[in-house]
Amino acid sequence: MNVVHISAECYPVAKVGGLADVVGALPKYQNSATVSSQVIMPFYNNTFTKANLFNTIYESQLKLGDTSYPYKILTLKEPLLDFDIFFVDVPELLFKEYVYSNDDTERFLAFQIATLDWMLTWETDPDYIHCHDHHTGLIPFMLQESFKYEHFRKTPNILTIHNAQYQGWFSHQKVNLVPVFNFDNVGFLDWGGNINPLAAAIKCAWRVTTVSPSYMEELKLSANGLEDLLNHESAKCSGILNGIDWNVWNPETDNYLISNYNTKTVVSGKKANKKHLCDTFNLDFNKPLFAFIGRLVGEKGSDLFPEAFKNILEKGDVSILLLGSGHNDTEIQLEALKNDYKGSYNAFIGYDEALSHVIYAGADFLLMPSRVEPCGLNQMYALRYGTIPIVRSIGGLKDTVIDISEKNGFGICHKDVTVSDITNAIERGVSLYKDNNTYKQLSAQIMKINHSWNASAKEYIKLYKSI
Ligand code: ADP
Ligand code: GLC
Repeated sequence: MNVVHISAECYPVAKVGGLADVVGALPKYQNSATVSSQVIMPFYNNTFTKANLFNTIYESQLKLGDTSYPYKILTLKEPLLDFDIFFVDVPELLFKEYVYSNDDTERFLAFQIATLDWMLTWETDPDYIHCHDHHTGLIPFMLQESFKYEHFRKTPNILTIHNAQYQGWFSHQKVNLVPVFNFDNVGFLDWGGNINPLAAAIKCAWRVTTVSPSYMEELKLSANGLEDLLNHESAKCSGILNGIDWNVWNPETDNYLISNYNTKTVVSGKKANKKHLCDTFNLDFNKPLFAFIGRLVGEKGSDLFPEAFKNILEKGDVSILLLGSGHNDTEIQLEALKNDYKGSYNAFIGYDEALSHVIYAGADFLLMPSRVEPCGLNQMYALRYGTIPIVRSIGGLKDTVIDISEKNGFGICHKDVTVSDITNAIERGVSLYKDNNTYKQLSAQIMKINHSWNASAKEYIKLYKSI
């Protein structure tokens, strides 16, 4: 079985969020004696592409409307990953320092067209084409409708929705950028008067998955305008919970950590990492350390942090450390708090992969008060590193964290996203931390919860085979 994943992000090549982690891990876990899983992604001008050498294996021109762009397909000179990866290099459009910006329509259309044009030249067709999010959402449409891809009409394609908030909308005025198709079927592209790549993919893909079962159900009620469509297409939709890369995220071998540890050495191991964080960020080591890692956007509930943190920091029981970037307003407020709560609060506004690993290891609690969370990987990383997750019960968070008040519970869950929900949940954390033995026991226990990709990778294979 030959599976091709097509994605805008893939760890460690280019990462903005969890999409990269998933596409960088799932193929590894799918690969076996009978499955060959590979990735096709854009070639960006970033640290990874600067640090590595590439071979050109194909060169051609793609057409975006009336304009031609030269492009190349590249591979890594030294195979660094546990799966084959191919890069679409369109120098004029894709080779930028960023992954996403306000020119996404042209860039990702060029990416999708170049990918399919190149795939037409393959000696052996893929058995399954697996698209991820709206950046690759026009592929299912083009495979179904564009004359030049008629060859792939019988090749099954799958769409995985990692986040339905972003849909890639663009105006019908740009419809000529899509390779020629029978215009009677333009309706497949449309949702609410715009071209909507995510909607087009939901309509045309052979199967649609979301990254957790709960998120699939939630989308039928609230999907940024796509609820009716998802209800209509529900027969081909299902949720498969994400996994995590068990090898990359392993506190026993993680090179980013100050001190490595396992379930037996978790107390001392976490202490050493916490000590480093507290020294670096001027925080009180003796207080429980609550952390947040992520995008500072409405979906993550981060706009409520400034007020919630103020309330909780006034009481003086906790240390808080935040790593993230996003909305300017929230960034400014979170920066300003630093002056008011020196010694008990700090924030690194930016992106830092290495620091994120040390925080998963050194924090006592990880905060995720998400308004929307299709899956969430952070809570699974926290569990693997023995850090208690404090989550709002939604989407994948609901599917992976059980409140300590319930049977077999190990985390702290709250129902809504309000300042008081967040502060109450932190206070529950403070009480749990004071009960030192229970905290230590839970911390070792959660490290054993297995969220490796093994099980979910098999679910995807089962899904492909069911088509
Ligand atoms: P999302 O994809 O919605 O942002 P996920 O929980 O699926 O959320 O994944 C987020 C990923 O991005 C995790 O690997 C997390 O550690 C990482 N991450 C998010 N923000 C930062 C940051 N500022 N620095 C380092 N890593 C980050
Ligand atoms: C998206 C979602 C996140 C999910 C990730 C990987 O970015 O916001 O919840 O974990 O994709 O599927």
